[in-house]
Amino acid sequence: MRISDEVKRHVDFMHMNLLDPAKTSLLSAVDVVMCRNVIIYFDLTTKKRVMATFHDKLRPGGFLLLGHSESLINVTSDFELKHLTHDLVYRRPVPGEEKEDAWHALANVGIAEAERSEPE
Ligand SMILES: C[S@@+](CC[C@H](N)C(=O)[O-])C[C@H]1O[C@@H](n2cnc3c(N)ncnc32)[C@H](O)[C@@H]1O
Repeated sequence: MRISDEVKRHVDFMHMNLLDPAKTSLLSAVDVVMCRNVIIYFDLTTKKRVMATFHDKLRPGGFLLLGHSESLINVTSDFELKHLTHDLVYRRPVPGEEKEDAWHALANVGIAEAERSEPE
């Protein structure tokens, strides 16, 4: 992937161990976390730890994008699941806004998929 110079001017690049609080504490509040195919290698305790960091760093209403095969089932219910047209993303809830029931949303996705794959 190539990133244009125009975008690069607005980005800080750094190596960061997500498990190192001394490094993650350097991050300021962000609107989006893109973390594809990283937590798949972590055990449950580590996943919880990293998700707590992401939750802490994301602004309320901010989005967390994981890989297609990654899910927060059994990891945390701190995020709500949002349905986009072609994807699912997690979102840090906004205080005072009604939190979407992630389990309910997930069930709906499963139902929709089952209906799509059902022979007509
Ligand atoms: C399968 S690769 C995915 C790379 C990229 N995100 C993608 O989707 O193509 C997994 C990545 O997780 C990174 N990783 C593993 N443990 C990490 C940690 N504790 N902190 C930061 N990155 C880590 C590895 O360096 C590696 O780049």
